[in-house]
Amino acid sequence: MKKAKTSFFCQHCGYMSPKWLGKCPSCNGWNCFAEELVSESDSGSHADRAFDGKPMPIEEIPAEEGERTLTGIAEIDRVLGGGIVSGSAILIGGEPGIGKSTLMLQVMKNLAQNGQKVLYVSGEESAHQIKLRSNRIGAAARDLLVLVEVSLEKILEQIKKVQPAIVVIDSIQTVYSGDLMSAPGSVGQVREASSRLILSAKKNGIPVFLIGHVTKDGSIAGPKVLEHMVDTVLYFEGDSGHAYRIIRSIKNRFGPTNEIGVFEMQDKGLKEVPNPSAFFLAERPQNAPGSVVVASLEGTRPILVEIQALVSQSNLGMPRRTAIGVDYNRVSLLVAVLDKICGLHLGGSDIFINVAGGVRVEEPAVDLGVVAAMASSFLDRPVDARTVILGEVGLTGEVRAVSQMEVRVKEAARLGFSRCIVPKTSSAQLSKVANMEISAISSLKELLENLF
Ligand code: TYD
Ligand code: MG
Repeated sequence: MKKAKTSFFCQHCGYMSPKWLGKCPSCNGWNCFAEELVSESDSGSHADRAFDGKPMPIEEIPAEEGERTLTGIAEIDRVLGGGIVSGSAILIGGEPGIGKSTLMLQVMKNLAQNGQKVLYVSGEESAHQIKLRSNRIGAAARDLLVLVEVSLEKILEQIKKVQPAIVVIDSIQTVYSGDLMSAPGSVGQVREASSRLILSAKKNGIPVFLIGHVTKDGSIAGPKVLEHMVDTVLYFEGDSGHAYRIIRSIKNRFGPTNEIGVFEMQDKGLKEVPNPSAFFLAERPQNAPGSVVVASLEGTRPILVEIQALVSQSNLGMPRRTAIGVDYNRVSLLVAVLDKICGLHLGGSDIFINVAGGVRVEEPAVDLGVVAAMASSFLDRPVDARTVILGEVGLTGEVRAVSQMEVRVKEAARLGFSRCIVPKTSSAQLSKVANMEISAISSLKELLENLF
């Protein structure tokens, strides 16, 4: 059998070289060569690289969205936009040890117990290890098939033979194609393996989950180069130090993005957290300066989280600024606004911001809460514990409108909060929310008057 011909390509400028190079002679980039296939081997693998399609009028293409399979785990189904779409490719990224294999095994177990034949391909663990894990989470089912394999060609062959309803590849970094020389896990291998698995999924209508590892700096080949190839990208957030795990959709061709599902890692696998607001606020201190509750919208769902700030006199020439769970640049901006507009002189203070529970909130809607937490800690005066604060802050100290105000305020009311401080421009729609006092403000000065 003739070996497939491969070359090395610069991932930045496309320069081709027959051998691997450390530095690209064309764009001078370092360490940017990856191996790619340039011509087919005569092993007959051509067939699984093409759709063999013909042009057809768009009006004749069937319009239905394709079937969706419910996994039976409500948090996952919601994150996927209402179940698994047939023929879709879903990437599950996350740091090692966060629970990717556990979650997929649980999903597979549910499907298998509903009588669907599913195939779990693992290149990381032995069948015995998978069995031990499945004992822990109670995943015994006839239709849950386990295949320990790393060769791409063999995996594709088994998928063809078994015709499962769903395939999981754990993990994409362990799969390698015999056509490429480079080691498993390299950019070329990961891309080749995924593109052929995705193609096979689309052709046969079999959804495929690809598990991919990312490290803290996101440097490992894998998830990042795959994001544009797959239909849906889910990322695991949270760290092994906390019991909760958040799964977030970063990209979804079949549903909303930024939707999150919340789980707790227990000794029998991942357990859904149906009421995340209550979960994240469970350990909130009462009447402590620097603690403020905000309502962040994650996808379609409002979630209340506690923002904590600690502002203390600095002994350093350059005071420390740390932001965990919120954007660092955003915090710097808010510190400057607070200093300039409200006359709170934070210049000589160390400032630490933390979102309790280790959640990440990216929205500007939490600005006002961050400002309130810093002011509260600086002035050493607590914010009323039954108050939720919402709003975006502009550079001149104005408070700007926030989207979907009503759902956020309703969530606050549901959890027993009695007052919301909101931007004036979005307060009109809030008259309907029962048992909630609304304080509408338009500037940071008014915020401080309202709070203390
Ligand atoms: P795992 O799914 O192997 O992580 P990944 O595939 O993302 O690398 O999860 C591993 C961690 O989860 C491990 O530290 C043990 C823990 N764990 C539990 O706490 N309870 C359980 O029931 C299981 C199966 C794992
Ligand atoms: Mg794993």
